[in-house]
Amino acid sequence: MSVIRAVVRGVGHYLPERVVPNSEFEKTLDTSDEWIRTRSGIERRHFAAEGETTSQMATHAARAALENAGLQPDDIDAIVLATSTPDLTFPSVATMVQAELGMTRGFGFDVQAVCAGFIFALTNANALIVSGQARRILVIGAETFSRIMDWTDRSTCVLFGDGAGALVLEARQGQGDSSDRGVLAADLNSDGRYRDMLYVDGGVSTTGQAGHLRMQGNALFRQAVGKLTETAEAALAKVGLSDADVDWLVPHQANIRIIQGTAKKMGLPMERVVLTIQDHGNTSAASIPLALSVAAGRGQIEKGQILVAEAIGGGLAWGAVVLRW
Ligand code: ACO
Repeated sequence: MSVIRAVVRGVGHYLPERVVPNSEFEKTLDTSDEWIRTRSGIERRHFAAEGETTSQMATHAARAALENAGLQPDDIDAIVLATSTPDLTFPSVATMVQAELGMTRGFGFDVQAVCAGFIFALTNANALIVSGQARRILVIGAETFSRIMDWTDRSTCVLFGDGAGALVLEARQGQGDSSDRGVLAADLNSDGRYRDMLYVDGGVSTTGQAGHLRMQGNALFRQAVGKLTETAEAALAKVGLSDADVDWLVPHQANIRIIQGTAKKMGLPMERVVLTIQDHGNTSAASIPLALSVAAGRGQIEKGQILVAEAIGGGLAWGAVVLRW
C-alpha cells in the first residue's frame, strides 16, 4: 500500500558561543564539578549571550538544516517550533523565524510540552505531512533556559543549557511498512497530576513575570526510566518493531543515569545511545534535535537506520518517535 511518509531531508543546530564549565558554579554555589558530573553526566553547557534570543538561535539552526537539505526558505511550507522559553508571550517564535528567514508564504506555530516538546512537535509535523497540509516542514527545538534559572538554587541551575536544533521533513512515498524511511510511529502521553514535580513559578495569568524553574529532581527521576522505556516500546510496537531492531536510541539529554537506566531496561548497549549531555546539559526541547544533528555530524547515525527518540518533562509530558533515518 502506498502511503506518504515524512522523511528527514536535512538537520542542523546552533549553540551559543559562551561555554560554561561546571567549575564556574563552584565560585558562587556550594557545589562541585565532581557532584555535577557524577549525578548528572554534565561537564559543560552553552549559555546565550546577553540579548541573544530563542528566535535568533532557532533561525541559525533552521538555516543550518536548510543548507544541509540543499533547500531555500521558500521551499518550506511550515515551521513547527517547540519551546517553553519564547522571546515574547506572543507572537510565536515560529513566526519570528519565518520572518527572519524571509519566508513569505506558509505558516508557523509553537508547541509547548517542555522537555518533551520536540517529540510533540515532530509528531504534529508528521501529521501535517501525512494529511497533505504541507510537503516540507522545518521542525525546530530552541530554548534559553538560562533565563528562567534561579541562580541561588544549586539543585536546578547547574543542570540546564541553551541551544537550538532543527530538522527538515519532506513528504515521500512509502510502502506503509517499517522498511520505509521517515517517521514510522509515535507515542504521546501527559498526566497533569504530576504538574508540581517540574514547573515555572510565574506566568502571564498569575504573576505577570516569567518566573523561575522549580523541580523535585528526585521524584521526577523515579518516574523517568519506567515512563521512557514504556513509551519507546509502545511506539516501536505500533510499527511491529522491538528493542532489538533499534540502531540508535536518541534520548532527551536530562541525566546520564536516566539515559543509562532506560537503555538498560530496553536491553541496548550504551554504544547504541547518542550522548551529548556532557557538552550541552539539559537544553529541554532543543536536546533531541541537537543530539540528532551532532550525531549526524559525527557520522554515527546513517541513512536507513532505525532511531528511537524519547523525552519526558514538565506536565508531566512524555513520548517517543520511531523513525528510519
Ligand atoms: N551540588 C551539590 N549538592 C547538590 C546539588 C549540587 N548542585 N544539588 C543538589 N544537591 C544535594 C541535595 O541538596 C541533596 O542533599 P541532602 O541529601 O543533604 O538533602 C543531595 O545533593 C542529593 O540530592 P538528590 O536530589 O537526591 O540528588 P539526585 O541523585 O536525585 O540527583 C538530579 C539530582 C540530578 C536533579 C536528579 O534527580 C535528576 O536528574 N532528576 C531528573 C531531572 C529530569 O529528568 N528532569 C526532566 C527534564 S527537565 C524539563 O522538563 C524542563
